[in-house]
Amino acid sequence: MNNELLQKYNTPVPRYTSYPPANFFKDDYTAADYQLALKESNSWEPKSVSLYLHIPFCKKMCFYCGCNMCPMAPENTVKSYVDALKSEIQLASKYIEKSRLVSQVHFGGGTPNAIAVEYLKEIMELLFATFTISADAEIAIECNPAYLDYKYLDELKKAGFNRFSLGIQDFNKDVLKGVNRDSSSIPVGDIIKYLKNDSKNVAVNLDFIYGLPLQTVESFTETIAQAINLRPDRLVTFSYAHVPWVNKNQLVLEKKGLPSNTDKAKMFELGSKLLLENGYKAIGFDHFVLENDELYIAQQSGTMHRNFQGYCTRNTTGQVYAFGVSGISQLYKAYAQNTKSVNEYISAINNGEFPIKKGYSLNNQEIATREVITELMCNRQLIWDAISARFNMKANQFKSLVNYNEVLLRQFSDDGIIQYSENNIRITDDGMLFIRNVAASFDPLINTQNKQYSKPV
Ligand SMILES: C[S@@+](CC[C@H](N)C(=O)[O-])C[C@H]1O[C@@H](n2cnc3c(N)ncnc32)[C@H](O)[C@@H]1O
Ligand code: SF4
Repeated sequence: MNNELLQKYNTPVPRYTSYPPANFFKDDYTAADYQLALKESNSWEPKSVSLYLHIPFCKKMCFYCGCNMCPMAPENTVKSYVDALKSEIQLASKYIEKSRLVSQVHFGGGTPNAIAVEYLKEIMELLFATFTISADAEIAIECNPAYLDYKYLDELKKAGFNRFSLGIQDFNKDVLKGVNRDSSSIPVGDIIKYLKNDSKNVAVNLDFIYGLPLQTVESFTETIAQAINLRPDRLVTFSYAHVPWVNKNQLVLEKKGLPSNTDKAKMFELGSKLLLENGYKAIGFDHFVLENDELYIAQQSGTMHRNFQGYCTRNTTGQVYAFGVSGISQLYKAYAQNTKSVNEYISAINNGEFPIKKGYSLNNQEIATREVITELMCNRQLIWDAISARFNMKANQFKSLVNYNEVLLRQFSDDGIIQYSENNIRITDDGMLFIRNVAASFDPLINTQNKQYSKPV
């Protein structure tokens, strides 16, 4: 890792899980705006859509957590929450064209497996009864393995789940203890075997984080080596995002001592190297998949896409309808986010109202910029002819619509981060760590307001 580049580019930049980033959403976006956006969403391609369900509860708070979560609520509140979630699905479905195929369902959190599995089954039954779920839909759930047992896994499979994302973070028990997290109740290898045992269609992802207290370059590499032995279908190595202004608990980690930037970059470098040497293919920046994975195939053909739930393929996954607290619907022309408060959410739904807290209506320049940033983050490259054709424009016309800055591009090129020509920009292997910085150079909003972001490393 080149220290000079690290000094120059390790500056706060958005993670671009959406464009504009969620901290640009406006408070004056209303439930009426969302209702209109839902109706309009029916006319946008692709025809296949995704559903996102948020279960915010967690049995224990991990100090590093940057997710929208809350401590476990009493049983009657959990029940009221699940009832409200079902009502929200019914309310929104009145405006959504039901013949559209649902290609992806994702339960995220918080910890979806923190609540009784019967609740998850009830929600799934309602989804099947309300929407047209594709026979080969991906039905995914994020699970904390500390709270899984075999019966729970059986019930999840019966309910239709076929992709399980297990939050491992690290196999080292001391690291987990330091961040207030329990380790898996069953050996992770046994969970994977059990899930895949009688079905070829079940896939397992493992999540890891590097940059936590007590992690060393050696210990994290050892964790990745253990993960490789378990052969998960996908593996994500998240860079720890230190955002104490969002989650004050993270300050505890500062006191415990965070690894240096150089060590953090080495963890990423050595972890990636090990994965690549052992048959995994890099997707975007921090995802790794086996060679036969549809994401790798999509990346090879330049048709990778991304939404708040992670990477997906442009062919199969379109707009996202989100349900539950903090859920963000990602429609072609708008984002709409629900309130983060469980009580506010339940009472809005019980009054028959959409619990919208904020949102954003995109103009044409923002839709074009979103395309550029998504393309870069997913496919590592921009081919101006191809991208402008999607907007029925000539390349030069399209470049002037987005924030094309030749001076900055030359600088990235001189620093070995990109290779570029008139029709093409490609992120180099060495430049992958700073892909967010290149994306930010196309972002006209980034310097317009005083926002805080995590650093690339
Ligand atoms: C909603 S959690 C996964 C489900 C479950 N709550 C768990 O922890 O196992 C999603 C993932 O986000 C990642 N994550 C959470 N906080 C993070 C942070 N501050 N920086 C980077 N990744 C983070 C973790 O890897 C976690 O597995
Ligand atoms: S990492 Fe997962 S289990 Fe831990 S607090 Fe965050 S959402 Fe909950």
